[in-house]
Amino acid sequence: MCGIVGYIGEKNAKDIIIAGLKTLEYRGYDSSGIAFVDNGKIDVYREVGRITNLEDLIKDVPIAHLGIGHTRWATHGKPSKENSHPHTSMNKMITLVHNGVIENYVEIKNDLVAKGYTFSSETDTEVIANYLEEEYKKTNDMKQAIVNMMNDLHGAYALGILCADQQDALYCVKNKTPMLAGVGTGFNMIGSDAMAMIKETNKFIEINDLEFLIVTKDKINIFDKEGNSINRDAFISNVNATDINLGTFPHYMLKEINEQPTVIRTLLSKYLCDGKLNIDQELYQQIEQADRLYIIASGTSMHAGLVGKYLIEELAKKPVEVHLGSEFGYHLPLISEKPLFIFITQSGETADSRVALQLVKQQGYKALTITNVEGSTLSREADYTLLLHAGPEIAVASTKAYVAQVTLLALLANALADNPIDMNLELNKVNVAIDDIISRKEQIEKLVKDKVITSRNCFYLGRNLDYYVALEAALKLKEISYIQTEGFASGELKHGTIALIEKGTPVIGLITQEKIALNTRSALQEVKAREATTIIIAQKKVANNDDDFIIENTHHLLSPLALVVVGQLIAYYAALLKGYDIDKPRNLAKSVTVE
Ligand code: G6P
Repeated sequence: MCGIVGYIGEKNAKDIIIAGLKTLEYRGYDSSGIAFVDNGKIDVYREVGRITNLEDLIKDVPIAHLGIGHTRWATHGKPSKENSHPHTSMNKMITLVHNGVIENYVEIKNDLVAKGYTFSSETDTEVIANYLEEEYKKTNDMKQAIVNMMNDLHGAYALGILCADQQDALYCVKNKTPMLAGVGTGFNMIGSDAMAMIKETNKFIEINDLEFLIVTKDKINIFDKEGNSINRDAFISNVNATDINLGTFPHYMLKEINEQPTVIRTLLSKYLCDGKLNIDQELYQQIEQADRLYIIASGTSMHAGLVGKYLIEELAKKPVEVHLGSEFGYHLPLISEKPLFIFITQSGETADSRVALQLVKQQGYKALTITNVEGSTLSREADYTLLLHAGPEIAVASTKAYVAQVTLLALLANALADNPIDMNLELNKVNVAIDDIISRKEQIEKLVKDKVITSRNCFYLGRNLDYYVALEAALKLKEISYIQTEGFASGELKHGTIALIEKGTPVIGLITQEKIALNTRSALQEVKAREATTIIIAQKKVANNDDDFIIENTHHLLSPLALVVVGQLIAYYAALLKGYDIDKPRNLAKSVTVE
């Protein structure tokens, strides 16, 4: 969950690496560092906090043409200068940046200690630096040292490596953690994703697990773990450098909330042709013929999966199970005779979901990945991919990817329905409702000020589809405002959790479904009787005049798409009023590439 950028070439490595690291801050932002090789010497600079702190630290560093940089999300050892990357070997021959977790680092460390190596950090990464120094001293051949390392190291690692005595080579190793090579003229790069390099190039080479690279300014040489050379063509990415600009918005989260109607329109144009679902025929048959669908995902994507389950079961009458990647990966439920596994992941890199995908593939089942990132690991490892076309999502709290996931699942569900709904028409109504919510966002800001912001905890209540949105709205609020929030099925509150309701506890009721509107209203009455502060968000057709926020009507099955936007804005304004870092909330990372 850390971010890596490396550069070798004619321009100033420092500027390019810092610009790349800034785009990777979503992967971790508790500390960062950079290293250059110049005249047989490694120079390392590290700083706690955001990339701008590192930028200040190195503002007077002279031009260098070879360097590696890192932004960290702590796994081994607290965020501190000592634990920040790059980590340098004891005799300063090797410095490297690492993303991943080494499982057997304690054993390797003990061997190295026995050989006289000393360590200055608590990280597993410093162990790799010393290991490589030892192997490089023995073999005098960096390539062989890396081959030996890949044999001995167990775990997940993406590495960018520099050698003090090699001014013209950058090394890169990948196993189970994302890494990509960027191809340029007069330079080459490595990076955790395409966005980190897109300002310099749109041409990339994929790196598979257990491969390593020797990168010079004119060539990228790929090797397998035995050191055999591999040929692979570069590809052109359609990621656009302007997609990652903030424009006139104060935060990426607000920008991405505003982009949601465009995302829905894009999906309609990509996936509907004359009202018919436009996807690969073989994939369509797999979905149609499956007797049960298994959706596997984490976090927000899992919440989108729950809505998807409801829609597929309602419209297509096909049973669906939804599982957390982190649970499914270690316990296969009883599987039906003709299953299809659907992985939903914004990033396409979530380690928990990847473990589950590998298990599914080992059992010989077919898998579809629904992702926002073309060429991502889960996309490459599944049999089929459907892209979300939401554009890069930068804010750590996911918004537009959720809306894209639900929209795409709705289109799939509808394609299988005996009585399909007019998706063009109904999704356009959703867009009208979303635009209306966004245009009244000050009203939501006021609600937050008046009723939510001061609280220590908060509840979202809903039933059926509203319950699934309650889960997502609660996750948004806790992620960025740090208010302890739970989403509850409104019928369940009275079976225990109502004990937590005190005078003034905010309870937000979500009501969009006619058949359960009254039930949720009675649950709200119950908490009101215990002096909770209730806030009602309702769709027009089931609203009372004195409800706190009323949403335009949409098709009842598509109501989550508009309703969630209110939850996103409640979270946004709560965090804004509390003065928190909205796009980069504490302790979180956008792409969780470690289990
Ligand atoms: C992290 C992010 C969440 C995201 C989850 C799953 O925890 O902070 O926002 O929902 O990972 O990510 P994915 O990329 O698989 O959708």
